[in-house]
Formats: sequence, structure tokens, C-alpha cells
Amino acid sequence: MSDIAKLQIGDNQYEFPLITGTENEVAIDIKTLRGATGGVTTIDPGYKNTGSCQSAITFLNGEEGILRYRGYSIEELAEKADFLEVAYALIFGELPTKEQLEKFHSDIKDKSIVDDDIKKIIDAFPKNAHPMGVLSSLTSALTAFNPSSVNVDSEEDMYNSVVKILGKFPVLVAWTMRKKQGLPLNYGSKSLGYVENVLKMMFEQPNEEYVQNEVLVNALDKLLILHADHEQNCSTSTVRIVGSSHAGLFASLSAGISALWGPLHGGANQAVLEMLEAIKEDGGDTKKYMAKAKDKNDPFRLMGFGHRVYKNFDPRAKIIKVAADEVLKELGVNDPILDIAKGLEQEALNDDYFVKRKLYPNVDFYSGIIYRAMGIPVEMFTVMFALGRLPGWIAQWREMRLGKEPIGRPRQVYTGENFRPFKDISNR
Ligand code: SDX
Repeated sequence: MSDIAKLQIGDNQYEFPLITGTENEVAIDIKTLRGATGGVTTIDPGYKNTGSCQSAITFLNGEEGILRYRGYSIEELAEKADFLEVAYALIFGELPTKEQLEKFHSDIKDKSIVDDDIKKIIDAFPKNAHPMGVLSSLTSALTAFNPSSVNVDSEEDMYNSVVKILGKFPVLVAWTMRKKQGLPLNYGSKSLGYVENVLKMMFEQPNEEYVQNEVLVNALDKLLILHADHEQNCSTSTVRIVGSSHAGLFASLSAGISALWGPLHGGANQAVLEMLEAIKEDGGDTKKYMAKAKDKNDPFRLMGFGHRVYKNFDPRAKIIKVAADEVLKELGVNDPILDIAKGLEQEALNDDYFVKRKLYPNVDFYSGIIYRAMGIPVEMFTVMFALGRLPGWIAQWREMRLGKEPIGRPRQVYTGENFRPFKDISNR
């Protein structure tokens, strides 16, 4: 293939270079388009055909259902790595040595104390506040308690910010849940692993010792790995564009949490469970909901199905579906919701509407079934997604800032009124 793209506008022809990535993805570099054509730009609602950056962090192939973090397959990472190893690789580019990982975890634990005044902010929220709104606020508030902005050109400063947010974020996650439950806001223990500590902070009862359950530890570790990054999805693109104005890391992460909250994005894991519950209440009538999903006059969508990139199975959904079976069996939980989910999946995979549109189960379709079996409240599901996605957001923010990328500022095509003189109120 030639290394240029030719564009014909009227009698003029323009040439633009092609960029080819390490996995042979090809993009037209249109950096010079507006200048070369005297003002012509492109338009692409939802950026379905538009790349925002070149990135070395995560590779997706939606047609083949491939997902790799820093070149490592999601299947191997989910099977053989732990969450902190994956977080380190995403952020710093390589899997850590044993010493690096031990130091990373130790440094995270040293930075995991949150200013007690954060509790005053949590107390100000009504108990029925959605945890994603609380978490986004608390994450933004971290800036107030850690005002020095990250000097991205200083490896040490960047490393310290990374371990600080990886240490404090799980505390905010746990406190967000416990506040709704009326439980004391606690800390875990520096003697525990990262995921064990999350579980202890979330589930410890004030009057008894929390006993770790390896099934829950392994399940949560795997779920966090599977959610850790996903290239330029909505919330990650939000983190990158907010960070491109040189807003701080915590402020950028807070914006990403808000973007993730939406039911079309991370909020889908909560919406899936609510949908499955509704189907169960409705006597398990999946056909009714399939019909609603296909009815253009009905805003209902089959939550947990479809994906902007994957036009094949989401590899994470495959792994989570197997894990759901294992976790429920090991916990001795018999959840009819899982059977409804599997039935719905089978129906959709054999339905022309879904097959034609290449709509497959995505990461959110089965994850909530595991979270529920673990005793996590449904409103906390998207918070758990954010806990997993944190290292990906950090990695992408760091890459954007180290790459000295310009502030994100898309153009538009104006379709409003042409010039008109002001009309005095007496003449309106
Ligand atoms: C995540 O981007 C990422 O990587 C995200 C994520 C990550 O890790 O960060 O993977 C996490 O957000 C997963 C997606 C979770 N969202 C849901 O499960 C919500 C349900 N899914 C849809 O809303 C939808 O599939 C999206 C939002 C995920 C993708 O939407 P697109 O790419 O904009 O596609 P579209 O809305 O243009 O749909 C194309 C067609 C339309 O029909 P036609 O107009 O062609 O007739 O497919 C239909 C849609 O109506 N369609 C669905 C459907 N999803 C798409 N119809 C019924 N049910 C659905 N779920």
C-alpha cells in the first residue's frame, strides 16, 4: 500500500501521509488538512472512525476479539498475573521484577492514608447518593489535600503520584460503600495484599475479625485485571482530554469517573443486573425483552450487549463468564440470574437482529453476577469498574502528558443562524 492518502476536493487534490502502527493499523494523518484546504475539516460523531492519539499501552482488535496490555494477552494476564503487576506494566511499560513489585506495593501502602477531613465531605452526602457521584467528588477533593501538581517530567514525582492514588483510591471506594451501609470508615492492614486489603476495608464488620476468602480474592483480582485498560474508550478519552489542559491527575481521574458512570459505558454493569432482575420478576420472559431491544420505538437496549470496537466476542466477557460459573460454584451460590443471563445470551447469539449488527456480550454482561455473589451492592458495581480501570487511566494520562500532546480542542461545523442584527426587546 502507498504511504499517502489522496483527497480530491473540487478541482484540487491533496495528499496526506499514512501512519501504520506496530499491529499494522493504518491512519490518515490529517494534521495539515485545514491549512492545506483553506478551512476544510472532518466530522465524525462519536469518533467512530477517528483516532485521537498514537498509544503504546493497549491493543484491541475488535474483529478478532483480541485485547493486549503492553503486548501481553488479556488471557495470560488474567491467568498468571496479579492486579498490581498489571497496573505496573500498564503505567511503566514492563512487567515488574520481584523487587520492583515489592517496592511498588510497599510504597502504595505507605501512601494509603487519606486525610481525615475527607470524612467530613462523605458525611455531607445523603445516604442515597449514588456511589459514583461520591467517588468522583472525593477523587477531585484529593487535589485539595494533595495540592502539588505532578511534574510529569520528573520520574520520581510521577511515581510518587501513582503510588499515592493507587494507595488512596481503594480507601475512597471502601468508604463510599460503608457510608451508605452506615458502617464505620476503616483502614485495612499493611500486612495484606492489595486486593485482600480492598476486601477487608469493604467487608470488615466492626465486631469481628475479617476472614479472607481466597475465592473472593482471586475473583476480584481477575475482575480488576480485566477492567484495567481498554485504549481510547469514553472515560479514558475523558481523562486524556481533561489532562491535556494540564489539569491535575486527580482532577482528570475525577472526570473519567463521571464519564464511566453513564449506562452506555461502565454504568452498564449495574444496568445489566437491573435488567436481569426485571426479567426475573417478569417470570423470566426473555423474549419480551429481546423484542423491546429490537423495537426502534422502544429506548430499551439489551444492556451488556454490543460494543463500539468488538464486533466479535469481548474476550473479557468470555473469561468473566467462566469465572462466574466457578465463583458461584465455589461460594455455593445458586443464582437464577446467571441462568437468565445465559439464556438471553443464547437467544441473542441466534437472533438475526443481533447477529447482523454483530452485537455480542461485553465486559459488563456477566461481571455484575460475580460482584453480587461477592456481596457487593449493585450500585457499587461501576465503582468496582473504576477501581479496576484506575491504572489504565493513569497510564494513558501519563503517556499523553509525557508525549507533550496539545490541548484537546475539536472543531465543528456550524449550522446555526447566519448574521442578523440585534433586535430590541420592543420589536421581538
Ligand atoms: C463498556 O469503549 C470501550 O472500550 C468501553 C468498555 C471499556 O472497557 O472501557 O468496553 C466498557 O462501556 C462496554 C459497553 C457497555 N455498554 C452497554 O452494554 C450498553 C448497551 N450497549 C449499547 O448501548 C451499544 O452497543 C454501545 C454503546 C456499547 C456501542 O454503541 P455504538 O458503537 O455507538 O453503536 P450504535 O449505538 O450505533 O448501535 C449500532 C446498532 C444500532 O441499530 P441500527 O441503528 O443500526 O438499527 O446496533 C444497535 C443500535 O440500535 N444496538 C443495540 C444495542 N447496541 C447497539 N440494540 C439493542 N441492544 C443493544 N445493547
